[in-house]
Amino acid sequence: MIYLLLCMALAFGAEIDVNTFSNYIEVSQEQVHIEWLLDLDEQYINATSQSIFRVTTNKLKKIDLDIYQLSIIAVYLSSSGNVLQHEIIKKGDQSLLQGDVLSIQLDRVYTRGEYIKLNIKYNLDSKGARALGFLTKEQTYSKSVPYLFSQCEDNNCRSIIPLQDTPSIKVFFTATVLVKDPRINVFMTGNKLYNTKFKLLNNYENLQALTLYQFELDIKIPAYLIGIIAGEVVEKSTGNGTYVIAEPHFIDEYAQELSDLPVYMKKMQEYIGPYIWGDYKIVILPASFPFGGMEHPLLTFASPTIIVGDKSGVGTAIHEIAHSWVGNTVTGRNWANFWINEGFCVFLERKILSRLNGLDSVKLDAINGNSSAYTSMLTFGLDNSFSSMHPNTTNRNPDEATSRVPYEKGYQLLTYLESLIKEDPFQQFLRDYIENFKFQSIDEDQLYQFLLSWVRKNKQEEAQKIVEEIQKVWKKWVYTPGLAPITIDVSTPLFTDANNLAKAWIDGKGQAPQKANDFQQYKPNQKSVFLQYLIDNYKDVEAAVMTKMDEQYKLTFYKDQKTVYKWYRLVLLVKYDQALEGVHDFVSKVGVSSYLKVLYDLLGQNYNKQAYDWFDENKSFYHPVVVQAIEKILQKYPKKLIIE
Ligand SMILES: *[C@@H]1O[C@H](CO)[C@@H](O)[C@H](O)[C@H]1NC(C)=O
Ligand SMILES: *[C@@H]1O[C@H](CO)[C@@H](O)[C@H](O)[C@H]1NC(C)=O
Ligand SMILES: *[C@@H]1O[C@H](CO)[C@@H](O)[C@H](O)[C@H]1NC(C)=O
Ligand SMILES: *[C@@H]1O[C@H](CO)[C@@H](O)[C@H](O)[C@H]1NC(C)=O
Ligand SMILES: *[C@@H]1O[C@H](CO)[C@@H](O)[C@H](O)[C@H]1NC(C)=O
Ligand SMILES: [Zn+2]
Repeated sequence: MIYLLLCMALAFGAEIDVNTFSNYIEVSQEQVHIEWLLDLDEQYINATSQSIFRVTTNKLKKIDLDIYQLSIIAVYLSSSGNVLQHEIIKKGDQSLLQGDVLSIQLDRVYTRGEYIKLNIKYNLDSKGARALGFLTKEQTYSKSVPYLFSQCEDNNCRSIIPLQDTPSIKVFFTATVLVKDPRINVFMTGNKLYNTKFKLLNNYENLQALTLYQFELDIKIPAYLIGIIAGEVVEKSTGNGTYVIAEPHFIDEYAQELSDLPVYMKKMQEYIGPYIWGDYKIVILPASFPFGGMEHPLLTFASPTIIVGDKSGVGTAIHEIAHSWVGNTVTGRNWANFWINEGFCVFLERKILSRLNGLDSVKLDAINGNSSAYTSMLTFGLDNSFSSMHPNTTNRNPDEATSRVPYEKGYQLLTYLESLIKEDPFQQFLRDYIENFKFQSIDEDQLYQFLLSWVRKNKQEEAQKIVEEIQKVWKKWVYTPGLAPITIDVSTPLFTDANNLAKAWIDGKGQAPQKANDFQQYKPNQKSVFLQYLIDNYKDVEAAVMTKMDEQYKLTFYKDQKTVYKWYRLVLLVKYDQALEGVHDFVSKVGVSSYLKVLYDLLGQNYNKQAYDWFDENKSFYHPVVVQAIEKILQKYPKKLIIE
């Protein structure tokens, strides 16, 4: 049924984006320039945007843009300064946080091919700008200068810039940022310019006292890739055009951990082709950054949880590097096609990791990834569209659909295709795919048609058979919720060993098994398999097992946050109270959304009072998008009143 309907829709052309209120089909944003005066102490920004639009319809009378809680002061034509009428229209269900429409009445009817240049003056603050994390100076390491960072993906850019907030549209991005405190350094998506290039759009009384930064990107990007950090940060070269950016206290440690960035870049280019974006810079953010990483061109963000001390967390850096091709150069055209970014990205990440760490290690990553995708599917419901690779985000906030599902099902699909097409030709296919679709935003059907014609052209006598195999599974793989129709081979002795050890612990009922010490030799991904087995079988894990295991492995004190996170999941499931303070410590210092969502869910179920107390204590430390997500989770577990 779904399948039939979608095929009909596709017959009429490419998919649209249901998560923007803009009229981007009629008029296309080509360029956005912003001028921001940052006040990090007051958590306030005076802003002006200047955008260029190209008319793509016969009669255009208005431009609708996405906004979320921006206070709009004025809209005017850049050339004449003539003010245009605007209104803010509330659309849909406000609780979905999709934002509103800024509807701009044009001064006349415009026709296809004309350009319109508009300035919008507006203000934003920390209360409305859900894309921004404002840290007070106390929340930084040095405690001397406040810090600002953004997270625009999925559709949070509308809370900082009025624009067409859709991955269907790519713009040239430029910026001027002015700061009052000279200790504040600013980086944005784009090359930092060392000579002033863009004329200021406003007059500032005390201009001499302000420090001015300008940025320019000469490749078009979708709104969700716009990013900023501002704070007391420094950058350090790690060689061959790669850099690490962080607070000064951490810069040497982080640069050391990431000293192989040039190697990753080299290996990635050997596989997929030349890197086109210029330098590669990665910012290691303060702990409240809500994600593992975020792939802004020239300004990748990564969580400090990737810094483990032994380079075992650098998979995230490799993942973000891979996005330079898949996601940033070729982009999924709406949030239903998020897997076109993430599935390909995980495939490239694991391709490089298999060359660095071997195939068995990568199979463990695939098993762990599949396991968290499956957990998300169970949470959504196995037949919920969010458990498919093509979630239906109509009348939803696409953030809600974010899970490991598109990453892993996408990875599995590509791995399956590689097994059909064979490794070397498949590498060539990926290179041709990038070349064919570079700078575009595409949907699954465009990719599908390209794949079929590529196979027909390049696989000679085998082509017909491969095409038929692909046709058999493709739409099912993409649209049907639940596990992939074909299970890829992830068998490895590393998996069996870890499971056997976990099982032996359960059976030991408090006695350490013979091979207990193998655990210390495991890499984090194998530890993760071990802990996942215990999580999956937590009902059989007796208290004595937890006590003995904790005594022997000292899991509560592991530096690797991924391992500790899984341990705490187990702790909360089996109610091992002795480690509860460890969980408290973890949620007080790690701001990663996916960890916090799971832990607060378990806390809500099993430790209601702590869930509410700890959330209240640390609310100001978490990023606004995380606060909203946890609030939603805790609603499932109403606060129990305790009369003391
Ligand atoms: C910033 O905006 C606020 C509110 O509109 C205004 O009071 C303030 O003067 C503006 N600051 C500058 C430097 O324009
Ligand atoms: C870095 O650049 C140097 C000099 O061009 C080159 O010899 C070296 O192979 C490069 N390293 C990597 C990992 O690309
Ligand atoms: C993913 O997990 C499910 C549920 O445990 C399992 O049935 C399936 O075989 C797994 N697939 C892979 C590729 O690991
Ligand atoms: C997507 O969801 C909307 C809103 O719930 C619904 O009207 C529409 O039929 C769904 N589309 C598909 C293809 O299932
Ligand atoms: C979280 O709350 C605890 C208890 O109040 C506090 O000690 C800790 O500093 C908070 N964490 C952050 C990063 O603010
Ligand atoms: Zn990614």
